[in-house]
Amino acid sequence: MNAIIECLQGDIANQPDIDAVVNAANARLETGGGVAGALHRAAGPRLAEECRPLAPIRPGQAVITGAYALPNRYVIHCLGPVYGVDEPADVLLADCYRQALELAHRHEVSSIAFPAISAGAFGYPAAEAARIALSTVLDSLPELAGLKRVRFVLFDAASTELYQRTLDTLT
Ligand code: AR6
Repeated sequence: MNAIIECLQGDIANQPDIDAVVNAANARLETGGGVAGALHRAAGPRLAEECRPLAPIRPGQAVITGAYALPNRYVIHCLGPVYGVDEPADVLLADCYRQALELAHRHEVSSIAFPAISAGAFGYPAAEAARIALSTVLDSLPELAGLKRVRFVLFDAASTELYQRTLDTLT
């Protein structure tokens, strides 16, 4: 495996050196709070237009669109599980990361940035979400030749430390 995995504090809507950014979407693929709001605001209204015929999506599913005014080539939209509602939550959350990576691979993406899917409004406990995210990416990487960089973009310092610590324990 020769891809770099990194955990950085920042804004998922401001990752200019990355090919594909991942959206923590809602089922309707509309703008919203958190990550979805930030990405749709930065991309502009044509993102919502492209999304409309692709919706609704189900928990664990990922779809890909253009990125419009964002500084990236693609947005990959994932619907994470609502914690305590969509079951089995761990499998559905891992499906998000697997499906996003598969789409990235099919579109010859060389770098991808993920937010902490489901760990905001959808209520997934942060440490468990971090473990699932990082272990799923680590397990998938050997089949993803061409992918050179996987970045986790965390909003605050505590989450960034959590992801870095979790990555250290898994590698
Ligand atoms: N960049 C990086 N991380 C962010 C950003 C940002 N700009 N904004 C928030 N986070 P959430 P979910 C963090 O709620 O839990 C939306 O309203 C945030 O602190 O965006 O999958 C949609 O419309 C948290 O750790 O996603 C859906 O209805 C993580 O990103 C619903 O929320 C995910 O928070 C999806 O909920």
